[in-house]
Formats: sequence, structure tokens, C-alpha cells
Amino acid sequence: MKLTTYKFFVMALFTLFSLLGCSQLATKPNSDKPSLEQSKANTEDSLFNRMGGLPTIKIVVSETIDEVSSNPKTSRSFKDIKLPKLKESVVSQICKLTGGGCEYDGETMLNSHKDAKISTAEFELFVAVFRESLSRHTNTREKNELLKILAPMKRDIVSYQ
Ligand code: HEM
Repeated sequence: MKLTTYKFFVMALFTLFSLLGCSQLATKPNSDKPSLEQSKANTEDSLFNRMGGLPTIKIVVSETIDEVSSNPKTSRSFKDIKLPKLKESVVSQICKLTGGGCEYDGETMLNSHKDAKISTAEFELFVAVFRESLSRHTNTREKNELLKILAPMKRDIVSYQ
């Protein structure tokens, strides 16, 4: 009789610990890491969404154009240019390039920059200002992805060393 009671307690304790152990195993991984579906959705989201959509693009383009149009090293190209219209055009282009679904009906990079005779130094300063603004408003991964998309435009925008 004594032995049976002892066995009953041992079995009851064993069952209790097993249940506790299982429930911890079942909940811990979910609370630490995103599910497979969640991580898949995160990696497949467009660059446009990941960088913060139109608000981020607008602020970055605005800050960049304000800086390059007032910096003596780059300002000459922007002398007679309507900046609000230019900002809108660049925003649409970047929105489209990053998967935001905007229409860009402006000129090609070759046509819109050929008369300005932009140098390598001017292009590099523009990109540096753009990079700094991106650093303030989006994450490193998204910043680098966008800069990688813009980099090949150099050959159409720059017309002399
Ligand atoms: C990757 C870098 C650049 C991108 C993505 C870019 C993009 C653009 C876009 C989309 C337009 C508007 C075209 C249109 O509406 O038809 C434009 C025009 C213009 N860009 Fe750039 N640009 C870049 C670099 C530069 C640089 C380095 C300068 C000068 C330092 C510059 C000066 C201008 C000017 C002055 C215009 C107006 C041209 C006009 O209306 O006659 N851009 N750019």
C-alpha cells in the first residue's frame, strides 16, 4: 500500500514535469524568432516598403537637392531649375526603381543631364550627400541597396572627369 502511494506520487510528478517541459519547448522558439512565414515576408518585401515608402524618399530627395543646390561645389547646375518640380521628378523615379509602383514620365538620365556637363567630383558629392541623408532616415541594408541601383547611372550623368 505504501509502495503504491509512493509510485503514484512519482508518476504524478513525472507527468507534471513532462507537461511543463513540453509547454516551454513549444513556446520558446516562437517568442525568440519570427516564424518561417514572417521571415519570408520580411525578405520579400519591396525595397520601397522596407526603406519607409514615400515619406522616406521625399525627405531624402528634398534634403539632398536642398544641399547640392546651395553648396558652391555643385550649385551652378541648379541655377535656373525649379527645385519643387525637380524633387517631384526624382521622387517618382526612385519610387518606381524601388518597387513603389509610381509612374516616372521624366527624361532619361542621359538627356536630363547632358547640358549640365556634370563632373565626376560633382556626381560624387551628390552621392555623398544622398548617402548621408539615407543614413539619417533608413537602415544600412536599404541604403546600400538603393545606392547600388543608382551607381550605374554615373556613366549617363557624368560627362567629364
Ligand atoms: C544618381 C544620381 C542622380 C539621379 C538619380 C538624378 C536624377 C534626376 C532626375 C530624375 C531628374 C529629372 C529628369 C526629368 O524630370 O526629366 C534630374 C534632373 C536634373 N539633375 Fe539629376 N540626378 C542625379 C545626379 C545629379 C547630379 C550629380 C547633378 C548635379 C550636380 C544633377 C543635376 C540635375 C539637374 C540640374 C537636373 C534638371 C535638368 C533640367 O531640368 O534641365 N543630377 N536628375
